[in-house]
Amino acid sequence: MTQPVVWEPNRAKSVTLREGCVDIWRVDLRPDQRMIGQCGAVLTADEQERAGRFHFERDRRRYIVCRGALRHLLARYLPNQSAKSLRFTYSKWNKPFLVNDEIPFNVSHSDEWGLIAFGHEALLGVDIEKIKPMRDMAAIVKDVFSDEEQAAWERYGENRRPDAFFAGWTRKEAVVKAVGQGLSIPLKSFVVDLTPDVERPSTSLDGEWYTRSFRPLHGFAGAVVSARPIEQLAFHDFVL
Ligand SMILES: CC(C)(COP(=O)(O)OP(=O)(O)OC[C@H]1O[C@@H](n2cnc3c(N)ncnc32)[C@H](O)[C@@H]1OP(=O)(O)O)[C@@H](O)C(=O)NCCC(=O)NCCS
Repeated sequence: MTQPVVWEPNRAKSVTLREGCVDIWRVDLRPDQRMIGQCGAVLTADEQERAGRFHFERDRRRYIVCRGALRHLLARYLPNQSAKSLRFTYSKWNKPFLVNDEIPFNVSHSDEWGLIAFGHEALLGVDIEKIKPMRDMAAIVKDVFSDEEQAAWERYGENRRPDAFFAGWTRKEAVVKAVGQGLSIPLKSFVVDLTPDVERPSTSLDGEWYTRSFRPLHGFAGAVVSARPIEQLAFHDFVL
């Protein structure tokens, strides 16, 4: 689906976000012990405590690595700050921001992969979803897609429907995450383009929204949305 992506492993200690660019970092949530140690080491006491509350070791590990990667990456964009010293604040709907709002970001995870987007615009949202076979896809389409999206989805043949579904789903999630209100915005209340391989899909939500879809890796769909034009996407693999 959509544009082919080349992910470049990036170890640079300092990174600059170019004008008009959104940087997308891919995080492998199946890390080795060294990665877990280095990500765990930058978490605050609150975050360590949250990690400790996960029932399953797998969920604990994913949280530690995703939050630790976020801190390490923010410190690369903000070279005068250390990963551990960064402080987050949360909107009423739980969207995390930096306390001093130096750089907008958004995080998404699905299965064993995470994505972290950095941009120039606070209204930034990213989503990754693992493409799974779903016997009840038609029922989900009915529940969450608007009438116009349902009609568009039904026009696809059986074999194209999963791609159209996941293109629409990731775009809708990225939109509500960019707005920051998450699922408190009824997903049926706006329309996104379901065309799997369109580079700049549209959305009917009020305001200016710039959406790009991409393939995070085989078997996954991804979308990013910003209230500023996205002139370029840069794709990096998180490595320490
Ligand atoms: C935001 C939301 C759509 C995320 O859906 P999801 O597909 O399960 O999760 P994703 O993996 O894509 O994203 C999760 C990440 O998004 C970020 N996030 C959380 N809330 C967010 C929001 N409202 N807007 C944007 N990003 C948000 C977080 O970084 C979170 O990761 P973390 O918990 O590891 O830090 C969903 O959780 C939601 O709607 N939350 C709002 C809940 C709400 O409104 N509660 C009512 C409070 S009054």
